[in-house]
Amino acid sequence: MKKRILTGDRPTGPLHLGHYFGSLASRVELQDEYDTFVLVADVQALTDNFDNPIKVRENVLEVVKDNLAVGLDPDKATIFLQSAIPEIAELTVFFSNLVTVARLQRNPTVKDEMRQKKMEDSLPLGFLMYPVSQAADIAIVKADLVPVGEDQIPHIEQTREIVRSFNKIYGKVFPEPEAKVGEMPRLTGVDGKAKMSKSLGNAIYLKDTPEELKTKINRMYTDPTRLKATDPGHLEGNVVFMYLDIFMKDKNKLDLLKEDYKKGQVGDVLIKNYLFNEINVFLTPIREKRAAISDKMALDILKEGTDRAKLVAKETMREVREAMRLL
Ligand code: TRP
Repeated sequence: MKKRILTGDRPTGPLHLGHYFGSLASRVELQDEYDTFVLVADVQALTDNFDNPIKVRENVLEVVKDNLAVGLDPDKATIFLQSAIPEIAELTVFFSNLVTVARLQRNPTVKDEMRQKKMEDSLPLGFLMYPVSQAADIAIVKADLVPVGEDQIPHIEQTREIVRSFNKIYGKVFPEPEAKVGEMPRLTGVDGKAKMSKSLGNAIYLKDTPEELKTKINRMYTDPTRLKATDPGHLEGNVVFMYLDIFMKDKNKLDLLKEDYKKGQVGDVLIKNYLFNEINVFLTPIREKRAAISDKMALDILKEGTDRAKLVAKETMREVREAMRLL
C-alpha cells in the first residue's frame, strides 16, 4: 500500500504564489508516489470567519480550481471538503483531551495570527484549538506526510504530540506524520513583508490576470536609497531581485542584470519588466487550465473526493472507537 499525504487550504480567498511554493508544488510532484488527500478546510476557515460564511462558501470551488489548475490530478488525488466529514469533528473532541490549553497558547503561528487579527482580548475557543482539529484532519486519513509552508510546522509538531499520546494510551492507531516544507519555505510579499498572505494584501494570486500582475509588480519594493536610475542600486532586501532569483531561468543573464543594477546602469522599470515576463510565463498555463474548469466540474470532483474520504474516515473512526473502548 502507498503511503499517504494529507494537506489542505483554508477557503478564504484564491491561492497565491506563497501557497504554490510552500505546498502546492510538492503535492503535485508527490501525487504519483503517495496516496494524496487534499482538504478544503472550510471548518477551519470558519474559526476566524464565523461571521462571514458567504466568503468561505464562495471560496470553496476557487480553492478546488486552484489545486486542479496547478496540476493536481483528480484520478490520483482525493480532493475533499472538511465540513462534509463529521468524523473529523468527532476525532477533534477525543484529541482535545490530549493537549493542554497552555500548550495551544504557546503555538507561535496561532500567536502571530491572533496579533494580526487583533484577537488578544477576544480569543474564540474554536480558533485557539484549530490546531487540534488540524491534527484530526491529518490523522483521520492516517497520513504519513504533510506538505506545508513553514508557518504550519508548529501544527504538525502538535499533531505528532497528540497522536503519540493517543497511541500510547489507547494503542497504536496512527502514524506520526512528518512535515514536508517546500524548497522555498516562505515567500516574501510584494511589499517586502516577511510573508506573502491574503490578509496582509501583499499576495500574487495564481489566477491574477496579466494586468493585475503588472500593477502588483509596479508597486513592488526595490531599493529605497535609489532616487534616479543612474544611482548605484542595492540588491539586499530588494524584492524584485528576490523574485527574479526564483523566476528568472537564465541565471547568467540575471547575474549581468545584477551587476548593471549595482553600477546604476539599469533602472527599476527594466527589472520590473523582466520580472513581469517571467512570472507571466509561469502563470499563463495555470490561468488557462483554470479557465477550462467550470464550477460544475470542480463541484463534481469535490463530491467524488469527499465520498472517498468519507469511507476512509469511517474506517479510521471504527478503529478509534474500538481502541478507546467505546461502544
Ligand atoms: N492551516 C492550513 C492553512 O492555513 C490549512 C489546513 C487545514 C491544513 N488542515 C490542514 C494544512 C491539514 C495541512 C494539513 O493553510
